[in-house]
Amino acid sequence: MPKSIIGGIGMYVPGNVYTNNDLTKFMDTSDEWIQERTGVRERRFADRSNETTATMGIEAAKIAIERAGITPQDVDFIIFATLSPDYYFPGCGVLVQRALKMNEIGALDIRNQCSGFVYALSVGDQFIRSGMYKNILIVGSEKHSFILDFNTRSRHISVIFGDGAGAVVLQPTEEENRGILSTHLHSDGNDAEILAMYNPGSHANHWVKNLADYNEAEIGDQYESHSMIDAAQNLPVMDGPGVFKKAVAKFPEVVLEALNKNGYSPADLALLIPHQANLRISQFIQHKLKLRDEQVFNNIQKYGNTTAASVPIALCEAWQEGKMKQGDLICLAAFGSGFTWASALMKW
Ligand code: UT7
Repeated sequence: MPKSIIGGIGMYVPGNVYTNNDLTKFMDTSDEWIQERTGVRERRFADRSNETTATMGIEAAKIAIERAGITPQDVDFIIFATLSPDYYFPGCGVLVQRALKMNEIGALDIRNQCSGFVYALSVGDQFIRSGMYKNILIVGSEKHSFILDFNTRSRHISVIFGDGAGAVVLQPTEEENRGILSTHLHSDGNDAEILAMYNPGSHANHWVKNLADYNEAEIGDQYESHSMIDAAQNLPVMDGPGVFKKAVAKFPEVVLEALNKNGYSPADLALLIPHQANLRISQFIQHKLKLRDEQVFNNIQKYGNTTAASVPIALCEAWQEGKMKQGDLICLAAFGSGFTWASALMKW
């Protein structure tokens, strides 16, 4: 049975750089607070009129496809992970298919927020192992800036996030010492509402009891309306400390699950690439797993948290910086809204 390798990888981040000091023009915050609590120094925000989640994903995809040594017409399946799609529907996968003039191949969108890319990788891996597809394009892309609230009331959310995209091409290999060894997917919906954007949504107050526990705003309208916008009910909500607490428990757990499954220990890791949620979370994982600095890759300082794009952007930068060589043991891990969390262990 073949294993999957990453045959090509690419990333795209918008040119607009916003430093922490830039954010102080919109809200009551400071560079010192943001760096101390999150590690973020700056982030990129997409051009409001020209760049979308799909267009950024397409740019990253073009690079990944070229580096894989194939053409867009060789791709036989698309998986697109995002929480900020261009449209409520259809998904972004078909926009990639159209823009890159691909054949009439399957296009699947994944709505798993921060763990979306690792979930996508796991789905792609199954298709490669079964022999169904040979070139799978996986994209993680986010344009958070269009749903972020740059008002002081949302400062604990808005200072963390940034825009960008990453992409990989997954291909089969028969080589002994290469490829994805295993993937591990988890969820716990008990706290689904503590990191969420409720509207526009079909909840129609069905979950209102839960929502009321976490959000004092009255959740009344089902669809986007003036009253909803006036009441700021169309914006993301997050109980930061609640998410932090669960993340630092589940991240190390899912990394260890992948290592144990394959008979490895943290000391064997060449590189852990965690979802870039918060530098403090990455440092906690590093401490818990007793990893050296060079075993953990962080670039949240430059891009903020780019949700489904953060793992492929970090993977791409790590590769571009020559941090992985063939046969190295690499672990990708992610945790986020849902909650959902996941890991993938591979030999590069
Ligand atoms: O990808 C997964 C998605 N999310 C996460 O992983 C987020 C996980 N959580 C976190 O990263 C952290 O909880 C945050 C960075 C979001 C917040 O850090 P914190 O240390 O948990 O702060 P806090 O929410 O407990 O707030 C502490 C104080 C509060 O003031 P008071 O009540 O102590 O006076 C906040 O109002 O910090 C205040 N605060 C800010 N001050 C300046 C919150 N945000 C800001 C801000 N600038 N941006």
